[in-house]
Amino acid sequence: MTRVSMTVDGVSYTDEVEPRTLLVHHLRERLGKVGTVVGCDTSNCGACTIALDGQSVKSCSVLAVQADGSDITTVEGLARDGVLHPVQQAFHENHGLQCGFCTPGMIMAAIDLLGENPDPTESEVRHGLEGNLCRCTGYQNIVKSVQAAAKAMAPGAHASTPAPVAGE
Ligand code: FES
Ligand code: FES
Repeated sequence: MTRVSMTVDGVSYTDEVEPRTLLVHHLRERLGKVGTVVGCDTSNCGACTIALDGQSVKSCSVLAVQADGSDITTVEGLARDGVLHPVQQAFHENHGLQCGFCTPGMIMAAIDLLGENPDPTESEVRHGLEGNLCRCTGYQNIVKSVQAAAKAMAPGAHASTPAPVAGE
């Protein structure tokens, strides 16, 4: 067992983990962060996406020991004081989900995308989210949601302040 410390959604945790433990399993099974989901066993779907020191990563492709000392944000850490993050709000308002299974990863990847490109075109959104799969093929509304979030987060827009993501 190896001792790892990390901050997840603003809370510090120190645990003993087996060296082979994937970060997604540590988050879900040890820390109870079940909002981060496992949608495949091939690192293809992106459902497990989190922000690791400000970068979106597939948490099924990282070992928990590799995250030692990191600052992590999961989908559960985005809302502040009961107010949804603008990207969460936009997914809600624009029906950016069908079964919702892919939604946590889509939202985390979209936040990273908007951090790099605050006003993406439709094709830039599609390209930016291509590592995340929606098996319901709800892509049209996901793209619409991300573009609506971009508008809501634009300087001068009347939206709630985006919650900071770890490392930013
Ligand atoms: S569960 Fe991580 S990419 Fe599918
Ligand atoms: S909403 Fe069902 S997988 Fe995307």
